[in-house]
Amino acid sequence: MSWTADDVPDQRGRTVVVTGANSGLGLETTREIARNGATVLMATRSTERGEDAARDVREDVPDADLRVEECDLANLESVRSFADRLADEPIDVLINNAGVMAIPRSETDDGFEAQFGINHLGHVALTGLLLETLATDEGDPARVVTVSSGIHERGEIDFDDLQGEEAYDKWDAYAQSKLANVLFAYELERRFLTAGMNAESMAVHPGYANTQLQFRGPEQSGSRLRMAAMKLMNTVVAQSAEMGALPTLYAATAPGAEGGAYYGPGGLLYMRGAPERQASSDRSYDEETARRLWAVSEALTGVSYDLPEPKGEVSA
Ligand SMILES: NC(=O)c1ccc[n+]([C@@H]2O[C@H](COP(=O)([O-])OP(=O)(O)OC[C@H]3O[C@@H](n4cnc5c(N)ncnc54)[C@H](OP(=O)(O)O)[C@@H]3O)[C@@H](O)[C@H]2O)c1
Repeated sequence: MSWTADDVPDQRGRTVVVTGANSGLGLETTREIARNGATVLMATRSTERGEDAARDVREDVPDADLRVEECDLANLESVRSFADRLADEPIDVLINNAGVMAIPRSETDDGFEAQFGINHLGHVALTGLLLETLATDEGDPARVVTVSSGIHERGEIDFDDLQGEEAYDKWDAYAQSKLANVLFAYELERRFLTAGMNAESMAVHPGYANTQLQFRGPEQSGSRLRMAAMKLMNTVVAQSAEMGALPTLYAATAPGAEGGAYYGPGGLLYMRGAPERQASSDRSYDEETARRLWAVSEALTGVSYDLPEPKGEVSA
């Protein structure tokens, strides 16, 4: 498969929500989906940065149909208020893209460790609150695309210390949050299937793409050495943000994309290249872990899904 952004089909009449739409992969995803005619709701934690990004997209796509909405995934009240504002708009695709990586330990406004709280719990809450807004009545299934990372393969869900209160390692916490993304995406697909809902859930990873992601950790810890190393790596090794957005664009728009799948770049070390279907880690397919994480996430966020628990063999 050598799928490119030129293969994104006509999106006219569709509404797509992108979290973290103002930077990196979210911005490129927004640009290509808007170029093909969808209304894109740019969910950003800063509306100022969101409007700047919308201007950037409009320079390329003058008739882009964009709306910037505040949605801070580190604040459940902000997530609820965003979902309330969307209550009457059928959403064809929700792209859970926003994220932070390898930052020093901090907490969200609700007291969750930030990487677990923003990358995983914020998106669990958002998806649950938008469930009834998904366009599932007729036609193509609604899609929920959750952006993970290849690093999920070294992740483990530490149920005894989910929030890194006893021991915190910034990379372990990131890997845990990204494994949680894949476990969530697969469990959501199983629940859609069990409910017979006209919706699909898939996970993606972008390989290694040159974005702001790599600089947040060094910025916050003040590590000039790590900042310099990241700059070098991003220049020499990373692919562009445009390329990194392709697995997301494929999962969100390609007619052939399938619920329960995991898509990522198929080139060198799975860090670059055109998107393809891949296998995720063995742990990510563990249904017991997925169910337990689902229950814990519902309890922590206070957002309960109106979806039945999968019974017996329902493979995503
Ligand atoms: N780039 C890569 O190589 C790579 C590799 C693997 C996985 N990923 C994943 O790709 C996704 C996108 O990252 P990126 O590379 O595009 O990084 P990026 O350029 O840093 O963009 C991250 C986006 O997330 C937003 N965000 C951060 N905290 C938020 C919060 N509390 N609420 C709402 N939005 C928040 C950021 O907003 P602000 O601009 O306001 O901070 C920004 O829009 C992430 O999930 C990341 O884990 C990226």
